Amino acid sequence: MDKERKLIIAGNWKMNKTVAEGVALVNGIKREVKDVKEVDMVVCPPFTALSEVSKAILDSNIRLGAQNMSEHNSGAYTGEIAAGMLKEFSARYVILGHSERRQFQKESDELISKKAAAAHAASLKPIVCVGETLAEREGGQMETVLLTQVRGSLAGLTKPQMEETIVAYEPVWAIGTGKTASAQQAQDAHAFIRSLLVKLFDETVARRVRIQYGGSVKPSNTRELMSLPDVDGALVGGASLEDRSFADIIKNSI
Ligand code: PGA
Repeated sequence: MDKERKLIIAGNWKMNKTVAEGVALVNGIKREVKDVKEVDMVVCPPFTALSEVSKAILDSNIRLGAQNMSEHNSGAYTGEIAAGMLKEFSARYVILGHSERRQFQKESDELISKKAAAAHAASLKPIVCVGETLAEREGGQMETVLLTQVRGSLAGLTKPQMEETIVAYEPVWAIGTGKTASAQQAQDAHAFIRSLLVKLFDETVARRVRIQYGGSVKPSNTRELMSLPDVDGALVGGASLEDRSFADIIKNSI
């Protein structure tokens, strides 16, 4: 697939995989995708597996990401992990503001924007998640919700930082439900997000930012989703927990 922006496929393992299981998974993925150069490939294990997974992908074409981080650099924040600590494992990416964290940890757009700034300060590329719930979509609120989340979560980023930020459009109703957005729904939402980036930043920035789709991505729906003009990759949950399915998603995106 010849696209303007390089695709980025990231696996969000969520709260799954022990260290041994994570290493086995990433070794399997590594074998399957060793010749892939066309797409950026990222795995995001839980914090506990970052160290060993990092070693396992050394000298490979797979990059490391984390699933969250603190907005602070250090100090009395029990249970938190700082960007600098993720860098120790050579992490390059960090998922921020996933809908599960917005829902269960009550993360706000303001907090997510602070985390995004802290990530950039440490040279980590944030993958900032946005997306509407089913009730919001059915209530005609999709665009308002996306506007609020995009404006709030990316507030304060400079243009060069924004260009190095990945936005993940993840409609909440499609996450882990087996329901994928239709091609039209995905393209419309992605084009809308890009139009917001034009207003909030500028044309050039908006053209360069990669917008991933997330929500029940699997090998069988990858090709259609990745062929959409404003879809620049995928953030994959369930289907990233098995080496063959994650590798097939990657291969089907090329
Ligand atoms: P899913 O999760 O692929 O299992 O729907 C996607 C995500 O939450 O990032």
